[in-house]
Amino acid sequence: MRTWGNALQNGRVVDCEDMGNAFDFSLERLTGQGIPGGLESAGAGGEVSSGRLAGGLAGLESGAYVDNVGGKALAGTFFLETFGCQMNDHDSEKVAGVLLSRGYRQVDSPDTAAVILYNTCSIREKAAQKIFSRLGEYRFTKKEGQVIGVLGCLAQQEGEEIFERAPWVSLVCGSASYRKLPQLIAQLEAGNTRITGLETDTDETFETEMTRRDNPWRTYLTIIEGCDKACSYCVVPFTRGPERSRASASVLAEVRQLADLGYTEVQLLGQTVNSYADPSARRMRFSELLAAVAAVPGIRRVRFMTSHPRDFGKDIVEAIEAVPALCDHVHLPVQSGSTTLLRAMARTYTREEYLEKIAMLRGAKRRISITTDLIVGFPGETPKDFEETLSLMDTVRYDGAFSFKYSPRPNTPSLQMEDAIPEEEKSRRLAILQARQRDIQIERNARLVGDVFEVLVEGKSRRENQWMGHTSCNRVLNFTSPVKELLGHYVQVRVTRAGPNSLAGEAVHAGDAR
Ligand code: 5AD
Ligand code: SF4
Repeated sequence: MRTWGNALQNGRVVDCEDMGNAFDFSLERLTGQGIPGGLESAGAGGEVSSGRLAGGLAGLESGAYVDNVGGKALAGTFFLETFGCQMNDHDSEKVAGVLLSRGYRQVDSPDTAAVILYNTCSIREKAAQKIFSRLGEYRFTKKEGQVIGVLGCLAQQEGEEIFERAPWVSLVCGSASYRKLPQLIAQLEAGNTRITGLETDTDETFETEMTRRDNPWRTYLTIIEGCDKACSYCVVPFTRGPERSRASASVLAEVRQLADLGYTEVQLLGQTVNSYADPSARRMRFSELLAAVAAVPGIRRVRFMTSHPRDFGKDIVEAIEAVPALCDHVHLPVQSGSTTLLRAMARTYTREEYLEKIAMLRGAKRRISITTDLIVGFPGETPKDFEETLSLMDTVRYDGAFSFKYSPRPNTPSLQMEDAIPEEEKSRRLAILQARQRDIQIERNARLVGDVFEVLVEGKSRRENQWMGHTSCNRVLNFTSPVKELLGHYVQVRVTRAGPNSLAGEAVHAGDAR
């Protein structure tokens, strides 16, 4: 059963000192959050010799990978830890599905696993550091025959370099190659010591027969992988490759299956989800796909993340107006309020064009929550540019924002840009921006006191009668209800108190039938 703590984390990996407090999750962070952590240089040592690995695996069936690791019977077990964004969370669900279907068993601790996998994030330097530091832990403790694999964005970005920095790693695989994971693991089983899957040119999206989903009511569904936008600071186009959309019929078929399994909320995922381009003859527009997903019997809520402002058209707002199951929340990262910086970031819109999109959303017949991502300290950001970001925040009055210090990343055009902003100045600006956003959230949330929201109940407190869930506008609402079992139900809740990051209230009608 879900408990209070992890339910609050649901949908987002919260582990970042750079990150401002939005309410629940963000999605251009699909790519993840920066994570503090000391870098340990992973030197030589701990190498897995071909002979040892082959010997340990000889004659074993798939899924009975290593039957005796470090003297313990760990046959066919894997441990998987995920860093970063929802996209990674969901990829991990698929990776777990693939391994489970091959007879592996998932365990909670790396100590009891034959195969240890890290699904990684490299969006900011600290995220990458954290993972190298985690890998460093195995330098002396890796058990004989244990397999350590690095998946995801850092794997794609660093490639075989990872073997240099952490020679005890034997598998490095980027997200575009997950489909091949069973074969890659089979190669390790066959005696190979180092295996990589690093292509990004596949035109397939990662679909699997079996995906192990972590939340029994709310589910992710990737409709577009990769990114073609080439923002000058961003590694995603390098780590996740070009945009590939999934055929609308395949998306809808999966939604129907998920509804049959009892899921009532679907989150459509993509780095730039609204750039969706149906590759099938049907040529369904993104807004049409939203409506079609919402029309699947049993589906009560549809979310989508992250939207790129350039491709955010009126048709999406009209779909939200027309279809009640489409949630009243749009995550629309702006990054900066200065047109000069937006140009340097290659964001493809000006401040004014962005504000036109906001006006369109604010003018909708339904009240729509708007959240964003912001970067401070991009090279050349003058005090005036920064002021423009603050003034844009004052104009838009976001319901939530994720904010980050600019982090120079390998391969990105902004790496070559001059006028780097000193770290202390970035921190100073970030603190100012976060304080401003906090005040805005306090004010906006306070206005919701007295309103009634429908909440999908996702968590139960250890304390009697205390529950938590999300509103359609994606706020966390903690509430009281004497009803004994509410998990997975939709409940009407009146807001009685508001904080900067969440609301509190009491159930009006105890859980309706699903
Ligand atoms: N430095 C800081 N923040 C970044 N983001 C992406 N790349 C960087 C970077 N190099 C932020 C953007 C994006 C979110 C997912 O992460 O705000 O929307
Ligand atoms: Fe988002 Fe730009 Fe990175 Fe694409 S390149 S994921 S649009 S920040």
